[in-house]
Amino acid sequence: MDVNPARIVFNKMHTLEDVDKEKLPQHVAIIMDGNGRWAKQRGKIRMFGHENGVESVNQTVESCAKLQIPFLTLYAFSTENWNRPKTEIDTLMKLLVNALKRELKTLNKHNIRLRAIGKIETLPSKVYKELTEVMSKTENNSGMTLTLALSYGSREEIKTAVQQIATKVKNNIISPENIDETVINTHLYAHFLPDVDLLIRTSGECRISNFLLWQIAYAELYFIDVFWPDFRENHLVEAILSYQNRERRFGKTSEQLN
Ligand code: IPE
Ligand code: IPE
Ligand code: MG
Repeated sequence: MDVNPARIVFNKMHTLEDVDKEKLPQHVAIIMDGNGRWAKQRGKIRMFGHENGVESVNQTVESCAKLQIPFLTLYAFSTENWNRPKTEIDTLMKLLVNALKRELKTLNKHNIRLRAIGKIETLPSKVYKELTEVMSKTENNSGMTLTLALSYGSREEIKTAVQQIATKVKNNIISPENIDETVINTHLYAHFLPDVDLLIRTSGECRISNFLLWQIAYAELYFIDVFWPDFRENHLVEAILSYQNRERRFGKTSEQLN
């Protein structure tokens, strides 16, 4: 029986050298989950988990840049996360502002362009200002595109696109027969991103939580039982190795691909 590549058990610590550079996923998206449980396990408050998650972000961004993955998208704050206690939201926003301030240099050093998807105008003004500043100061970088999903919800993204297209139909800018997948895609926040190739979620939860619903139509999914603050380069490599061991058929038969 074939080994299910999604369930390969790794018995050694993998490094970036183990990755096949010819078969890199072009777009990796990550649902960074489990900060709260990581902290709770240590008898600490949730904020402690968020603080420690920042290092995982830094290391993951750096590893993906070294591998020359063209697009990395990180789910940092969902539309539903606004329903969390205000103190937790405030801490997350503060961590975000500090990280943006601190990491501008690193982004430029690695030639990374920062972009964002989501209803970013609803973020606190300090965050919005810092975010737009870092985005404009990195817009000429030609290496990896790092996209932060902030105040992001996929249904909201699709709803907004439908509203914009409906307005264009009403104003005779576009006719209904001409609405195709490309037109829909151009109206999404993530219009500048290709489809997701590999979606990783940490913390053991096996759900999508309103992330990139349109863009993951044919993504390979990888769920890992590690809380986000413990996520390191070897975990990233294992996810990519699992991806590289899969056959992406896009509806065809295996024979057709060969
Ligand atoms: C992910 O960790 C961070 C955000 C959603 C902002 P969580 O805060 O969701 O941690 P758990 O899932 O409660 O452990
Ligand atoms: C998803 O994690 C959102 C982010 C990682 C930013 P959640 O922790 O909010 O997801 P649910 O509520 O467990 O599905
Ligand atoms: Mg969570």
